[in-house]
Amino acid sequence: MIELRTMGAGQHNLIAPSLLAADFANLQAEMEWFNRSEADWLHLDVMDGVFVPNISFGFPVLEHVARLTTKPLDVHLMIVQPEKFISQVRDLGAAVMNVHQEACVHLHRTIQQIHEAGMRAAVTLNPSTPVSTLEDVIGDVDVVMLMTVNPGFGAQKFIEHSLEKVSRLRELIAKAGSKALIEVDGGVNRATAPSLAAAGVDVYVAGSALYGKPDPCAEVVALKRLTAV
Ligand code: DX5
Ligand code: ZN
Repeated sequence: MIELRTMGAGQHNLIAPSLLAADFANLQAEMEWFNRSEADWLHLDVMDGVFVPNISFGFPVLEHVARLTTKPLDVHLMIVQPEKFISQVRDLGAAVMNVHQEACVHLHRTIQQIHEAGMRAAVTLNPSTPVSTLEDVIGDVDVVMLMTVNPGFGAQKFIEHSLEKVSRLRELIAKAGSKALIEVDGGVNRATAPSLAAAGVDVYVAGSALYGKPDPCAEVVALKRLTAV
């Protein structure tokens, strides 16, 4: 299992480019800059058209992408019944399996099964789902990801209310003595990153702020600087 706290030179400002914003006709080139960059994790958004109103890519694509990097994969499953795919995500070599609280009827069991499969367990909350819904599992999760837009699409506007939510999550984690990292996904860019860092975020997913830019590696460096702890 990856050592979460010592990654990124021991800093808690990990940058996770979201492949959803990549040029899918040029994945090799997109993976080339990713590998060369200071990015820490690769964030992979799987959508089923049921849990979210969009469909992205699935395992056949992910298997090819996974072979093109040695950096940790953070697989964000925006699908119903994600527990059905634990072994497939493990077989990709994923470091972090990221499931939605709203999609898991037996969340505690799913977290256990992700751990048994040798992966870190991340639980994601939609913007409308309160942090308090994780009270009884906070000691068991490795990462809590807050959606800072409604899931399903890239390049949406950051929901400002998320900043308060990060603070509330931080309190919950501290109160429980949990070691969970805080990850945010959606609308992360040069403008929103500093306030997220001030609120206590550890992992920053960024799609449209990186892909398609003239120098994505420089954008990663900029986000690293703006979120330095
Ligand atoms: C949205 C996805 C995100 C998305 C973020 O449902 O989970 O990972 O790629 O895109 P940006 O960074 O453009 O908001
Ligand atoms: Zn995502």
